[in-house]
Amino acid sequence: MTKDPFVYVDGEFVPSQEAKVSVFDHGLLYGDGIFEGIRVYDRVVFKLNAHLDRLYRSAKAIELTIPLDQETMKAALLETLRRNGYTDSYIRLLVTRGKGDLGVNPLKCPKASVIIINIQVEPMHGHGSKEKGISTIVASVRRQAPDSSSHEIKSLNYLNSILAVLEANRQGADDAIILDHRGFVAESTGTTLVAVIDGALHAPPLTASILDSITRRFVLDMAQDLGFGVKEKDMTLFQLLMAEEVFLCGTMGEITPVRSINGQAVGTKTPGPVTQKLIAEFKKRRRLPQYGTKIA
Ligand SMILES: Cc1ncc(COP(=O)(O)O)c(C=O)c1O
Repeated sequence: MTKDPFVYVDGEFVPSQEAKVSVFDHGLLYGDGIFEGIRVYDRVVFKLNAHLDRLYRSAKAIELTIPLDQETMKAALLETLRRNGYTDSYIRLLVTRGKGDLGVNPLKCPKASVIIINIQVEPMHGHGSKEKGISTIVASVRRQAPDSSSHEIKSLNYLNSILAVLEANRQGADDAIILDHRGFVAESTGTTLVAVIDGALHAPPLTASILDSITRRFVLDMAQDLGFGVKEKDMTLFQLLMAEEVFLCGTMGEITPVRSINGQAVGTKTPGPVTQKLIAEFKKRRRLPQYGTKIA
């Protein structure tokens, strides 16, 4: 039987089945909060410091005071992992606005809540998705403009992505690709997107309303080390559809090849040779202590 892992909730370690939040928490009422998804490979927390830096940046963007400083947060997270004892696992670190009243104003929420969930997860797009790739659609719903509640902030509000996933579900596809407010390619619902064009990597830029993904940065650096060209540049739908290879990347999705877009095959082979090389190199690097924090 799978064990019931411990969840950290505001300083207490409780079995996940007993972990609770208030019905008056603004995270629940309004998606008012922030989070990080982090993976552990071979007891190395991949890019933990980068995730914590981004969490505190997201907090600043929504004027949320995290009740723990960054070092104390790191210690709480590592203690949760030690108690659960997994070799490979996934962490969902959330900071919600905390308890308030039913009004929208966060001024009524005096203290944020910190929750650290640590479980083992299946691959985001199911077993075999890295070998056979996934089918996608281009969603009709667009990413919010950068002067709106953009996905640049890693907030608990994923309604925009959920609408796109629902559209993919209705069309029998595995996931959706979302365009930005100008009509350029942005990202997928919970991952960023990279295309291979003329043998080089082409990634939509941060200005295309995408999340500053830690995996994306890691993969682009890794590709450069392997000798591939890398361009961060606006991408049209035409360029995407003509690409030799397309893959999604993110903590949950890792590197997942895209087999088709709107029913049209991507390139001639899934995964393509570049994607295959990157998947293999990512598998080697992600468990090295230099790219993360070893659970002592
Ligand atoms: C909308 C969105 N884009 C991209 C990503 C990938 O980011 P990262 O590689 O930092 O996990 C995520 C991950 O949560 C996401 O939710």
